This record gives sequence, structure tokens and C-alpha cells, in this order.
Amino acid sequence: MEKKEEQIEQVKNEWTPTEETILKRRSIRMYKKEQVPDFMINRILEAGRFAPSAGNSQPWKFIVLRDPKLIKDLTDTTVGICKLFKSLIDYRIPGKRWRLPIAKFNIKMKPKDLHPVPFGAVTFIADGKLGLWHDAPTVILIFKDVRGVSNPDLDCGIAGQNMVLAAHSMGLGTCWVGFVKLAFQYTRKWKKYFNISYPYKFASSIAIGWPVGDPDGMVKRVTHAVDWYENGSKKTNY
Ligand SMILES: Cc1cc2nc3c(=O)[nH]c(=O)nc-3n(C[C@H](O)[C@H](O)[C@H](O)COP(=O)(O)O)c2cc1C
Repeated sequence: MEKKEEQIEQVKNEWTPTEETILKRRSIRMYKKEQVPDFMINRILEAGRFAPSAGNSQPWKFIVLRDPKLIKDLTDTTVGICKLFKSLIDYRIPGKRWRLPIAKFNIKMKPKDLHPVPFGAVTFIADGKLGLWHDAPTVILIFKDVRGVSNPDLDCGIAGQNMVLAAHSMGLGTCWVGFVKLAFQYTRKWKKYFNISYPYKFASSIAIGWPVGDPDGMVKRVTHAVDWYENGSKKTNY
């Protein structure tokens, strides 16, 4: 058999290592205390640095947090803001139905932030039922350079997912964590602390550490229909 045919045959019969990494990665929400060696974090950052970006503008800035006190302080700020949000607009609590119009107004103003999923999570974080970074020993903060051509948020997402997959391929656990955005959006303290100013803006963050147990593996996923246009006709695959 020719090399290319052999390759196709092999792909037909088994997942490639990259596909395995993608399919078996899960968001990890329980970490061991043990720190991740710094050479691994450097390799993960390298995977981010090599991500494609529109016009090769690389519109990102990464900050690594490995100081438990710093991680806790930033978590406390975020939890404090979640508590404030909850006290102002959580109308689901008995006796607090009067907050509904205030909640509706805020939901209208910030439909993405206050979609039922993040809104539910904000109340969980406020109540201590959902950790922010789940006690991960390392956190990577991702800031976007707003001058990035086209769509810097997308570029940061691609770089971040490169890092997540690289970490997973090393046996580490990761979790994307968006909620710390509140600490950068509603206070000046942390922007000042990390020296973040124009053109940088918080994009997202990734918790990294050794997972407790063996939580990775495939899960069922909703399949979205995909239309295929080929040979002059259209078919829809699920
Ligand atoms: C941009 C982004 C932000 C996320 N923010 C959080 C978060 O703040 N807290 C959390 O526990 N999970 C967060 N997640 C993880 C998602 O909940 C998770 O990816 C989703 O439920 C699918 O599960 P899986 O990653 O195990 O496949 C986030 C994921 C993404 C992509």
C-alpha cells in the first residue's frame, strides 16, 4: 500500500493522539494541592503562543498566577461581586420577588452576562457552592489586545484552547473560567495590580492542575446538524 493509503487506513481504524486529547478532555473542578512543574506551564504557554491569529496579530497577553494568596484574593473580589449581584437581582429567593423588575432591566442591559446559565453560576459562586478556579494551583489569565485585527476574542479563544489541549496531553486537568471578568470589570484594583490598561482587556482564564481521580473521558454531546454541499446537491448529516 502507498504511504498515504496506509495513513488513511490507520485514521479509519483509530483516533489520532490529537483527537483523543480533544475528545477525552473534560473541564476539571477538583485539583490536587501539588503544584505543576514550571517547565510544563512554559510548554503550555508555548502552545498558546503558536496559535493562529487573524493577520498573525497575536492579540493576547498571558499572566500566570501560582501564588495561593494572590489566587485567593482575586477569588474573594470576584465572590464579593457575585454576592452583590445576587443581593441586587436574585428574585428567585422567597420574599424577594419585588426584585424581578430590577432583574429584568439588568438582564435586558446585559443579556449575555445574565443569561440563566451564568446567572445561576453567579449565585452558586456567591453561595460558595461553585469554586472560582476550583482550588487549582496555577491559573493563566488571558487578556486580549483590543487592537487585534478582526476578532481578538476569537484569537484568544484559539490560543487558550491550544493551551488547554497541550495541558491535557501532559496529563493535567484544566477548566476555562470566565467569571473572574467581574473583578476586572467592576474594580480598578486588579487592573492596577497586574498593570492592565489600554489596549488590553480581560478575555478569560484557565485553571490548571493535577486532577483528583480520573475524570477525563468521552461524554454524550448534542449533535448539531451539518449541511454538506457536494456534487451539486445538499445533504444534512447528524
Ligand atoms: C469561555 C468558557 C468559560 C467557562 N467558564 C467556566 C467557569 O467560570 N466555571 C466553570 O466551572 N466552568 C466554566 N467553563 C467550562 C464549561 O462549563 C464546560 O466547558 C462545559 O460545561 C462542557 O464541559 P467539558 O469542558 O467537560 O466538555 C467555561 C468554558 C468556557 C469555554
